[in-house]
Amino acid sequence: MNESNRRKSLIHNIAQLVVVPMGPVRGVEMKSPELIADAAIVVEGGRINYFGKRKDAPSGPFDEAIDACGGTVVPGLIDCHTHAVFAGSREDEFVRKIEGANYIEILESGGGIRNTMRAVRAATVDQLVAASRPRLQRMIEWGATTVEIKSGYGLSPDDELKMLRAVHVLATELPIDLVPTYLGAHTVPPEFENRAEEYLDSITSESLLAQLRDEKLAEFADVFCERGAFTVEQSQRFLEKCRGFGLIPKIHSEQITFTGATRMAVGLGAASADHLEYVDDATIAALLDSNTIPVVLPGCSFFLHSETAPARKMIASGLPLALATDCNPGSCMIESLPLVMSIAATMLRMTPMECLVACTANAAAVLRRADQVGSIAVGHRADLLVLDIPNVNAWVYRVGVNPVAKVIKDGKVILNRG
Ligand code: NIG
Ligand code: FE
Repeated sequence: MNESNRRKSLIHNIAQLVVVPMGPVRGVEMKSPELIADAAIVVEGGRINYFGKRKDAPSGPFDEAIDACGGTVVPGLIDCHTHAVFAGSREDEFVRKIEGANYIEILESGGGIRNTMRAVRAATVDQLVAASRPRLQRMIEWGATTVEIKSGYGLSPDDELKMLRAVHVLATELPIDLVPTYLGAHTVPPEFENRAEEYLDSITSESLLAQLRDEKLAEFADVFCERGAFTVEQSQRFLEKCRGFGLIPKIHSEQITFTGATRMAVGLGAASADHLEYVDDATIAALLDSNTIPVVLPGCSFFLHSETAPARKMIASGLPLALATDCNPGSCMIESLPLVMSIAATMLRMTPMECLVACTANAAAVLRRADQVGSIAVGHRADLLVLDIPNVNAWVYRVGVNPVAKVIKDGKVILNRG
């Protein structure tokens, strides 16, 4: 073990520690994690080795003391669904949507995802990295310590690889964990108009999928199942092929219309089904009987003036629910998970504590990392936020105000806002 592996620190002066348990946290359990007043955390080698009352904490010596200044400590936030690597900007479409244009019409008339595709195809890896780095830095400022990032704006084997390489470069540069997802099936690019099957063949070739696996360029595979994108059958074929190369399936489903894609994805053992604005009771029952976690993206409903997902109903049925930003240039240009928590609180009637569990333990479970991050547990990685507020309710309540004082990743302070 080298020096930094043995490094021992004490986080003290914690007025409230929110002991989020390991995910997935289901149903009513989401609203009541244990709270410890006057708490401390001891970190050794980047992992939590004690949490509890300050007075019961093991004594030093410590290499470092981190003062929480009487604030609240929670697990670092996990954004389990983003498209945060892209080039260009679509504020023109944002205005058109305000004036009444709809998302699918814009997509079908060559804009939307294809608009960003043109900008991404024209960019180099370095340009994609430069365009995306400040976004990710802002996400860290808002408290994200793990962020999933999808490809999906290249829409050709080379351009999809380019996007995933950009994610890889950012992962080596930035102090947080980035989780890459292959979203080759985001929509059909113009050169394959009316030839979706041939497009799918081109992006699921053995050589490409073997390269993604061998170079560890993606952990998950995702597909947009919707009018203007792919059918349930096409989505299934794509995910099955990717799964054959070790990529774990995920899906964008029931966002703008109900397709039944979620049940198909459950059948494939998908890690998550995301969006679910139009989810029905039979699908909720299928999710309950599975390990597929519903991910709700209320920033999208807010941004597109569209339907919201029935979060309360899913929680009441006993499901573990996750929340994510869906940060992307078209349907949700939101980088802040705490803002999404506030939107979920007001529009979906989730309590602030449910929102926190949805963005930590349950998001970690979506990304298949619940035994490592997203919770306060001995042996888990010390990814923590020190918040300059007396409790979690005050965070979600003060919409758009950022109380993140310190971001701690693997026990190290990576951001100190004083
Ligand atoms: O999750 N729905 C499909 N994909 C994104 C939007 C992508 C875009 O419009 O650029 C989403 O909403
Ligand atoms: Fe998305």
